[in-house]
Amino acid sequence: MPARLPMPLTRELNAMTPDLPPGLFDDGFHVACERLDRFIGALARSMARDLDLVGRRLPPSAELTAARGWSADGQLALEWLLETLELYGHAEHTATGWEVAAPLDGESPEAIRAEAVAAMPATEPAYRVMELSAAALPSVLAGKTRGEDAIFGPSTLGLWFDYCSNSNPHYAINNRLLAIAGSRAAGPGARVFEVGGGGGSAAQALLAELTADGKPPAHYTFTELHPAFLRRGGRTVQASLPPGCGLATMRYDVNLDPASQGVGAGQFDLVVAVNTLHLAEDPVEALAHLRGLLSPGGAVVLGELVRPTPLAPVHLELPFAMLEAYRRAPLAAGIRQRPGFMSFAGWRQALQQAGFGEITLLPEDLEHCAQVYPGYYCAAITAR
Ligand SMILES: C[S@@+](CC[C@H](N)C(=O)[O-])C[C@H]1O[C@@H](n2cnc3c(N)ncnc32)[C@H](O)[C@@H]1O
Repeated sequence: MPARLPMPLTRELNAMTPDLPPGLFDDGFHVACERLDRFIGALARSMARDLDLVGRRLPPSAELTAARGWSADGQLALEWLLETLELYGHAEHTATGWEVAAPLDGESPEAIRAEAVAAMPATEPAYRVMELSAAALPSVLAGKTRGEDAIFGPSTLGLWFDYCSNSNPHYAINNRLLAIAGSRAAGPGARVFEVGGGGGSAAQALLAELTADGKPPAHYTFTELHPAFLRRGGRTVQASLPPGCGLATMRYDVNLDPASQGVGAGQFDLVVAVNTLHLAEDPVEALAHLRGLLSPGGAVVLGELVRPTPLAPVHLELPFAMLEAYRRAPLAAGIRQRPGFMSFAGWRQALQQAGFGEITLLPEDLEHCAQVYPGYYCAAITAR
């Protein structure tokens, strides 16, 4: 019987990650994760009620979408909902589709959110992002709204800056793992190139870690695809630079050749990206491009939400499942077997095909952690 959410986070997880600094996942973080897990279960039950899925035998999500006259744009989010109900023990994947249990009662998401935000106000953006996405799904399914417009419009940009922030414990952990792995991979005075730098929170964490470890970088090239993020992130990085560290900011698209974007080969000692490379149309090509940027001995470090197995559900995935760039990234055998986030096996294969020889994962025993607690996704991958 696979582990189900929500579940108490066993303190064993700390013992299973001796390669992480002690206390990285402290009791406060464990309790915050347990609350967010309870909230997502309650949200999924409430969504199932709203979409009239409770107590029903349903066909697979593609057929269900067609049968209800829903838009295919919402299908991946619908699949997320059915899988998440299963992860919480409220649905079963059958030979013909899905069986959703009834009744689906229990705590309300609003009550759990209120409890969580009162206990730890900094976690609020994690709740708001999930609520916003859940509220948008009916109109995405009805074909009235695009996921991008509902959750990434001008009025919600501020929420994403709050979400992708080192102040939000549920996001900061991605950056911290990247920073730890990045600092272990870098020597003093490194020239760093960041891809998909967003609002600059990963850069902040990495610069702080390198500086605390006594090896501040010599130069930081902060890149982003979207102009609003590039401007905002660039300002954040500027304010976080250690003395003597130079800064360049520029647009960079992982789907294009670096040379065509004015980035020369072999110039960087450390190339980093947090939760960006899974958006690449062709991860092998995008990684090969990044490898070409490295100086001899340099490393690429990716902070990624890593799927526990190639096809496993991710209960935090809902907002991303509603975005076209996430849904449409092409599948590739052994690398990306379902849209979006990839497993470590998929990353390893992509990195190997891109020409990397030495590939390590932090924490090394992620697979075991995810077996014990199926919400354990955060990792950093280092490749040379
Ligand atoms: C999860 S966010 C990264 C957050 C960022 N690391 C931070 O600390 O705030 C992913 C980023 O990838 C960028 N992105 C999306 N498609 C991209 C592409 N084709 N090339 C480069 N960046 C891309 C997005 O604009 C977004 O800022």
